[in-house]
Amino acid sequence: MSFSSDTPKFRVAICGAGIGGLVLAVTIGKFANRDIQVDLYEAHDSITTIGAGIMISPRITDVLEALGLYEEISHFLKKPRASSHEQLRKSDIPEGGFEWFSPIVGLGNPVHRQHLIDILKRHIPSSCTVHFNKRLTNYTKLSTGSLILHFADESSDNTDVLIGADGIRSSVRKTFFETIDGDLVDPSKIGHYIDPSWTGTLMYRAVVPVEKLLETDPNATTLEDFIVVSLRESGHDGQE
Ligand SMILES: Cc1cc2nc3c(=O)[nH]c(=O)nc-3n(C[C@H](O)[C@H](O)[C@H](O)COP(=O)(O)OP(=O)(O)OC[C@H]3O[C@@H](n4cnc5c(N)ncnc54)[C@H](O)[C@@H]3O)c2cc1C
Ligand SMILES: *[C@@H]1O[C@H](CO)[C@@H](O)[C@H](O)[C@H]1NC(C)=O
Ligand SMILES: *[C@@H]1O[C@H](CO)[C@@H](O)[C@H](O)[C@H]1NC(C)=O
Repeated sequence: MSFSSDTPKFRVAICGAGIGGLVLAVTIGKFANRDIQVDLYEAHDSITTIGAGIMISPRITDVLEALGLYEEISHFLKKPRASSHEQLRKSDIPEGGFEWFSPIVGLGNPVHRQHLIDILKRHIPSSCTVHFNKRLTNYTKLSTGSLILHFADESSDNTDVLIGADGIRSSVRKTFFETIDGDLVDPSKIGHYIDPSWTGTLMYRAVVPVEKLLETDPNATTLEDFIVVSLRESGHDGQE
């Protein structure tokens, strides 16, 4: 028996249709049916992604299973269930390595980002409306508690709850900190919270065609399995 009706209890606006925004829209749809109206605002004209692989770790596998998405994503994984045999190796050790210690936070299986995005897109619930070319610039709060969203094209919309899923240069986060009560946050720190800053860690990545790797080393571990190599430089541990 369902208690949901066609009249939503309240409206949720999600800013940004990346992995975070899409997963939230799917989750609300799955657990709240039509009780919550969802509006998803995306700055670009489509839902897409750049980049190559993303790791589906054992923990993410559990989440995808709870959302009923694991079966679909499993077709794109190299191995059906994340194994705990991934290896870690320091770059000054020529061979072998150490088994990744934790089956909970284990590295998991890589999947192409586009496959993940496509599956999430297919599961956007009917209670969710996607608005393209809507770049949020800021929002204002009404005395009633609801919010007015302002977009770069000078349009605006109303909502009850706003979720910022608009990535590293989030406009939601920016407005949140610009308008936060000065007693809650040290005002001298606000600029630091608004603008992303470099932590000092570098990560180098490259994609190499399998044929090239075969030419160089027909026995390379990565042809069969997953390995993370940790580089050591000036006493710092980097990754990959
Ligand atoms: C090279 C690289 C490799 C990575 N590999 C992994 C990995 O293997 N595993 C892993 O878990 N994570 C990985 N990450 C991190 C992962 O990509 C991010 O954590 C994840 O994409 C963040 O998702 P998100 O939805 O918060 O933001 P994003 O993916 O950045 O999505 C933000 C969305 O919001 C939209 N948007 C932005 N501003 C606005 C606005 N003002 N109004 C409306 N819409 C807006 C954007 O167009 C975009 O669609 C990697 C990151 C990089 C750069
Ligand atoms: C808020 O966004 C609107 C629409 O883009 C813009 O006209 C306005 O100047 C912005 N206000 C602030 C305080 O940034
Ligand atoms: C690859 O492994 C095979 C079998 O162990 C060995 O005979 C061969 O010499 C190796 N090739 C290289 C380039 O290391």
